[in-house]
Amino acid sequence: MEAKLTAIGIYAPEKVVDNHYFEQFIETSDEWIRSRTGIITRRFAAEKEFTSDLAEQAVRNMAAEYQLRLDDVDFILVATVTHDQIMPSMACQLQYRLGMPNAAALDISAACGGFGYGLVLAKGLINSGMYRKILVIGAETLTKVTDFTDRTSCILFGDGAGVVLIEAAEKGNIGACVAGADGSGGQDLYLSNQNTLINGEEILANNKIVQNGRKVFKWAVSQMSLQFNILLEKEGLSVEDIDWFVPHSANMRIIEAICKQVGLPVEKALESVSTYGNTSSASIPLALYEGVRAGKVRKGHKVMMLGFGGGLTYAGAIVEWA
Ligand code: ACO
Repeated sequence: MEAKLTAIGIYAPEKVVDNHYFEQFIETSDEWIRSRTGIITRRFAAEKEFTSDLAEQAVRNMAAEYQLRLDDVDFILVATVTHDQIMPSMACQLQYRLGMPNAAALDISAACGGFGYGLVLAKGLINSGMYRKILVIGAETLTKVTDFTDRTSCILFGDGAGVVLIEAAEKGNIGACVAGADGSGGQDLYLSNQNTLINGEEILANNKIVQNGRKVFKWAVSQMSLQFNILLEKEGLSVEDIDWFVPHSANMRIIEAICKQVGLPVEKALESVSTYGNTSSASIPLALYEGVRAGKVRKGHKVMMLGFGGGLTYAGAIVEWA
């Protein structure tokens, strides 16, 4: 059997926060944030709204829209860096809350590369013949681990969730995949509450996201461009064959730089960063869903999804929209 992506759903918290909000407590401006990141708004989860709640709602929305049953899901993969708690996993909580008694449940820790890892793992699990119906979820409440005193990072993050259903089929639609890591950059993007070292370097153990924005920016552009071309080659395609590119939505300038490097018109990139901010593992399904809803992504289109993030990690796949 082959792996087929058959449905998609999203959920984002109600509270919309614009750039002027940050002008109240850090030295910044709407103009700076828009021009440096492309972000116009982002969503903030309520105080008592957590990652599992966002993920659950995304799945319920997808099930309602596609009239799906969930009780025969046999694997749940949840990519997140903002689990409600370390143990139990988000996947286990959802397995119970969504009524999926026969599902294996596992969280993926690959930061903004997590959703891409989920696609790759789901394809492998279905190709192995062991599983038939898998949920791949990317869900985050990054604003709960945002350092609101750090003006270089606090303006970036938002909360949201997205999910895709991947099923066993005679003819699949998930083509070439990539997944990889560069652990040497671990200290450039981290979230820790343990007074430990990363690659021998001391870190700030404040349970907030800490990043070296410029280093991540440069790494992302060169690594994503490389992986874009590797995916094309694996699938036997050229850049003109890609209808939609859905990279992790960290920053519009990163997306523009990757497009320029690989020779893809930026109009062919789907993004979620302008309205949802950087939502880490949720950013790709959010962007894809909006592209589908807007009627841009249509049956037969070749869609390349490619994530990157803390670890450092990267992963993605080419999907022919069904
Ligand atoms: N408002 C106004 N000025 C600011 C702000 C702000 N919010 N933040 C920084 N500045 C200033 C800086 O202090 C600096 O001033 P200086 O020149 O006087 O020192 C100037 O703006 C330029 O700073 P840079 O860091 O060079 O700004 P840059 O253009 O690189 O943009 C940014 C910073 C947006 C963080 C960018 O580097 C970026 O997006 N990097 C990638 C981040 C990323 O992808 N992170 C992934 C994390 S997600 C995850 O894995 C959970």
